[in-house]
Amino acid sequence: MNHLSELLSRLSTAENIVIFTGAGVSAESGIATFRDPGGLWAKFNPAELASADGFMANPERVWGWYQYRRNIIDESSPNAGHFAMAQMQKMWHRATVITQNVDRLHQKAGARGVIELHGNIIENHCFECSEPYLDEIDLSSNKNPQCGCGGMIRPSVVWFGEMLPALAMKKAEISAMKSEVFFSIGTSAEVYPAANLPILAKENGAYVVEVNPNETAISDYMNLCVRENSAEFLPKLLIEYKKFLNK
Ligand code: APR
Repeated sequence: MNHLSELLSRLSTAENIVIFTGAGVSAESGIATFRDPGGLWAKFNPAELASADGFMANPERVWGWYQYRRNIIDESSPNAGHFAMAQMQKMWHRATVITQNVDRLHQKAGARGVIELHGNIIENHCFECSEPYLDEIDLSSNKNPQCGCGGMIRPSVVWFGEMLPALAMKKAEISAMKSEVFFSIGTSAEVYPAANLPILAKENGAYVVEVNPNETAISDYMNLCVRENSAEFLPKLLIEYKKFLNK
């Protein structure tokens, strides 16, 4: 049996699948990844822009960067890969989307119950009391937005060195451990604890599939590595799967 037919066969009997994603799935929507050549971390310093210390040291700089990223994301749309992943949730009733991405393109494509491990770039909250901040962020006044409690308002993205949302991580771990097929798509698998999820799935018996044009830190653990872009491979996979079922 070749690898693709093994994947199709396992999908045909699977009840629980996990679709774990990283920045690569949004690349074909025009949103830069972090670690690809020319990616965000090649141009910007994560310590200054994606850490609590960086924010406290220069909140204007961090707000400016998030405004820049928000403008790009506002202009972007889900790609064929996002729509295929949303479609997979209709085909497998317990298909869980777990993402490291903050752009909410999975949700825009119709995915439901998306587990966001690194927060989201759309919302803001108080750094002090965690109260959601629902007003528009107005940077023109050069005054950093403040909460009624006096705390500073920040983007609701998880920064380096911060704990991931405990409930999201717990749900992600449980889904990974229960999965029969686990897709790791568009992630370099370099940032923990998120990057542990494919390993956890494999250790609990899942057939793990990497969809990434490049090798990653966990490629050797995978049962199948698909060296293709997600927006190309995933729609093809669903077509092949429907053919497989109608054999
Ligand atoms: N389809 C699939 N994979 C792709 C595509 C594509 N079209 N284009 C690029 N990739 C792959 C790259 O080969 C790379 O392995 O996507 C991966 C992107 O890796 P990173 O830029 O490291 O992004 P990610 O893995 O999501 O980073 C994890 O690190 O900086 C933090 O919080 C940030 O959530 C992010 C986390």
